[in-house]
Amino acid sequence: MQLKIFVGTMTNTAEYMAQAIEMDCTDLVSSIQVELMDALGPDVFGEATDTDTLYLICSSTYGTGDVPDNASAFYDSLSAQPRFLGHVRYGVIALGDSSYPQTFCFGGKRFDERLQDLGAQRIGELWCHDASTGTQPEADAVAWCRQWLSLALTA
Ligand SMILES: Cc1cc2nc3c(=O)[nH]c(=O)nc-3n(C[C@H](O)[C@H](O)[C@H](O)COP(=O)(O)O)c2cc1C
Repeated sequence: MQLKIFVGTMTNTAEYMAQAIEMDCTDLVSSIQVELMDALGPDVFGEATDTDTLYLICSSTYGTGDVPDNASAFYDSLSAQPRFLGHVRYGVIALGDSSYPQTFCFGGKRFDERLQDLGAQRIGELWCHDASTGTQPEADAVAWCRQWLSLALTA
């Protein structure tokens, strides 16, 4: 099983989390690939026969609960060029800050909703990272991802 992590970020926290996962979770899957969302389109989810890949959306939140700038074209493309994603199994790391209670982690939540609309299957619960907690995002992300991968690999 391989893991592909798609990163939506403005100030790189999500990217650092993804890189930490790439370094520390190699023992659990055959390969880990991290890609910024900038140039992605719906084709990144492969063909219906591709069942050997897990996907992890790692996206922060900006504006009034929007996805980051580098993620907006990819996010919009999932509606503009909709395809059935029944073969896709995914998880979500949603970055936000609880000082924005009305839109907390909406960037990742928006991706989750869109993927579910397209028939993709989320493994486990979406994980919200709160920038206000002051804990180390990379260490928290690795700990969460190891548990998530254990679940995904046995589901
Ligand atoms: C201008 C601005 C707007 C933000 N808006 C939201 C928001 O609406 N909801 C939320 O949960 N977090 C919001 N955040 C918090 C970021 O999503 C959070 O700090 C995140 O960890 C940043 O990750 P990144 O460095 O990968 O972009 C905002 C941050 C800034 C600077």
